Amino acid sequence: MLAEKFRKIRGLSWRVMDGIFKNMWDYKFVPVEIIARDSGVEEHKVEKVLKSLSDEKLIELKQTEYLGGAFTFLGLSLYSLNRFVRRNVVTMLGEKMGEGKESMIYNCMSEWGEAVLKFHKVGYPSFKKVREKRDYGDLHYTVLMVRSAKNEFNALKKLYGKVSVPKPYGWEGNAVLMELIDAKELYKVKLENPKDVLNYIIEEVREMWRLGIVHGDLSQFNILVSQDGIWFIDFPQAINLNEIESDEELKMAEEILKRDLTNLVNYFKKTYRLYVDASVVVDEVLKSH
Ligand SMILES: Nc1ncnc2c1ncn2[C@@H]1O[C@H](COP(=O)(O)OP(=O)(O)O)[C@@H](O)[C@H]1O
Ligand SMILES: [Mg+2]
Repeated sequence: MLAEKFRKIRGLSWRVMDGIFKNMWDYKFVPVEIIARDSGVEEHKVEKVLKSLSDEKLIELKQTEYLGGAFTFLGLSLYSLNRFVRRNVVTMLGEKMGEGKESMIYNCMSEWGEAVLKFHKVGYPSFKKVREKRDYGDLHYTVLMVRSAKNEFNALKKLYGKVSVPKPYGWEGNAVLMELIDAKELYKVKLENPKDVLNYIIEEVREMWRLGIVHGDLSQFNILVSQDGIWFIDFPQAINLNEIESDEELKMAEEILKRDLTNLVNYFKKTYRLYVDASVVVDEVLKSH
């Protein structure tokens, strides 16, 4: 369905979307005039294109003193896909692998062979609330999707090679392209050696902390397991300790690490009757930074 919609979009529409993408950080709804200025498409044509994209549910229009356009999730996803396609990084879109509240996942062919394209659907309130409060008032929600994708890509880049995560290939708009992992979520698997697995997971979380990353949404749903290994996925909420600017922020990051580890320990307790003291684990991990 995404591929079909993609094929129907004409060159002029991509240029208009370029104009919106360039300016979405500065305007909640990008004025026709600004789109025309940056896309080199005449204003009356921009208006026509916007209306037809709005009929296709790719763009949201708003008429105030001026007519402005913003992406929808679908529009932004198609546009992000196009940015990969233009670079010849993605060569073919495959099957939809899944869609939930927070993302839409597709299989695709890429420069590196078969890969996963993850389109981000949500933005998370930053844990740096005070500093970024200003941001949230007047940004369109699709800007936050882009920020989520960027945050996930950056965390994967920082971790890949040191912690077991899918190899990050690229980031465009709200989409992250990464290695396809052939494995199942932890909650779907019956482990034969739960104790070893939990210890390994704790060691990896410790390594992330050493590298300055807190996952932020660690659970049995975001760990993949197969005969070949264990992978951590789903990093849009990751915290980078290098970006922390106050003791208060560090405290928050520690709390989130604690929540991550406690979730995991509780899962192993509930599922495998494995009793590990979460607070001891947390202290040990904290010590290693
Ligand atoms: N790199 C990957 N390789 C294989 N499957 C993946 C990959 N990334 C995500 N998935 C699949 O898609 C699902 C959702 O991805 P995830 O990153 O957890 O996003 P969400 O925020 O929607 O939970 C995962 O539970 C997993 O089944
Ligand atoms: Mg997930």
